Amino acid sequence: MKIAVVGTGYVGLVTGTCFAETGNTVTCVDIDQEKVKKLQNGKITIYEPGLEQLFERNIKQGRLFFTTNLAEGIKDAKIIFLALPTPPGEDGSADLKYILKVASDLGPILADYTVIIDKSTVPVGTADKVREKIAANAKVDFDVVSNPEFLREGVAVEDFMKPDRVVIGTNSPRARKIMEALYAPYVRQGNPIIFMDERSAELTKYAANSFLATKITFMNEIANLCELVGADVDAVRKGVGTDSRIGKRFLFPGIGYGGSCFPKDVQALAKSASDVKYDFRILNAVMDVNADQKTKLIQKIKDYFKGNLKGKTIAFWGLSFKPHTDDIREAPSLYNIEELLSEGVTIKAHDPEAIENVKKLLGDKIQYFATPYEAAEGADAIFIATEWPEFRTPDFEKLSRALKGKVIFDGRNLYDLPNMKEQGYTYFSIGREV
Ligand code: UGA
Repeated sequence: MKIAVVGTGYVGLVTGTCFAETGNTVTCVDIDQEKVKKLQNGKITIYEPGLEQLFERNIKQGRLFFTTNLAEGIKDAKIIFLALPTPPGEDGSADLKYILKVASDLGPILADYTVIIDKSTVPVGTADKVREKIAANAKVDFDVVSNPEFLREGVAVEDFMKPDRVVIGTNSPRARKIMEALYAPYVRQGNPIIFMDERSAELTKYAANSFLATKITFMNEIANLCELVGADVDAVRKGVGTDSRIGKRFLFPGIGYGGSCFPKDVQALAKSASDVKYDFRILNAVMDVNADQKTKLIQKIKDYFKGNLKGKTIAFWGLSFKPHTDDIREAPSLYNIEELLSEGVTIKAHDPEAIENVKKLLGDKIQYFATPYEAAEGADAIFIATEWPEFRTPDFEKLSRALKGKVIFDGRNLYDLPNMKEQGYTYFSIGREV
């Protein structure tokens, strides 16, 4: 099938590449000339494990193309994906200007029946708006379908190639048939393609992300309570997570959820609800708790250093919002760095992938190091903000020699308490004994 993907951000690039991988011919369109030039030259623009190999292979085999010209990009395409940004507007609602602009541009240039698919996370009713914009100038039949994307950064290729489920919102039998054929290679293991109306599909995406953010936040509150009553959140997590109704995943407490999706989507769903006069109280509480949770360790640091942080040096391990990505959007690390800098702390940071992105934002306000040990050299303590695998089993003896103070503030509960005691570390984590 000939496919066009408009928008070569995270979702667009993964979607385009993964559709090419099963034999489709895909053209990705973007207005960013510099980005398109790079992609045309075979240079990938995001870090995502496993993607580069697929990207290179599909370019080489003539199935993956890039252009800045929308009309050229959609020529002969039976399917057009819209994978455009929906940033939060001032009031927290998703801003649809990019999507609606492309929809308007598409109307007059569609040459034959086409399925236009919203892949971006968009509020309920967006498919109707897109349809209206296209219809204003279209000369041919078309269908607008909602097909939200559930992939996670860091495991995006795996999530795309073997999705738990594919959600497709359409009432058009013609579009349904095309979508079924398109996704057939990805659901061979029997995972379902769930068809529904467009509005339900749009809401499904927000409901899924908001539910997961709520699940994490609930566990963060249990962790906070554990600290006050002398319980261990790791034990509680295992105890509750083995109940199949609850499930083991997304129960890990820490210094709050971040990233480009959960914060934005929880906020947008709460706003959508309030627009129709529904006070979605649980989501307001989730946002409140998460805001506090991000700097949960700061109080512990202040208490440990008896309120005097000025002149202290902290080795900061992990900058990306989660492991296996260089994405720092809404990363809890940034909130903590800001707090520590304002207290006069010197920050020596290490991250396996995100340093370049942080440099663009913070420049020389903090120092950057290629290894966690170099960052630890002469530091009064370590702060762990992201659970990169390389932090899980450090050489504690080497670390002890590098550090000035054997103190670890761990926002991701990476280490066993008995082991930390044995190694002679003062160890603070989330929801566990000191
Ligand atoms: C999330 C969803 O998981 C995807 O299904 C969805 O497609 C995506 O948003 C999106 O809307 O595009 P992502 O933002 O890549 O994916 O990251 P997650 O792995 O979901 O992690 C989100 C945040 O929750 C991270 O800050 C992570 O550290 C935190 N988290 C996750 C926890 O604090 N505890 C957990 O147990 C799990």
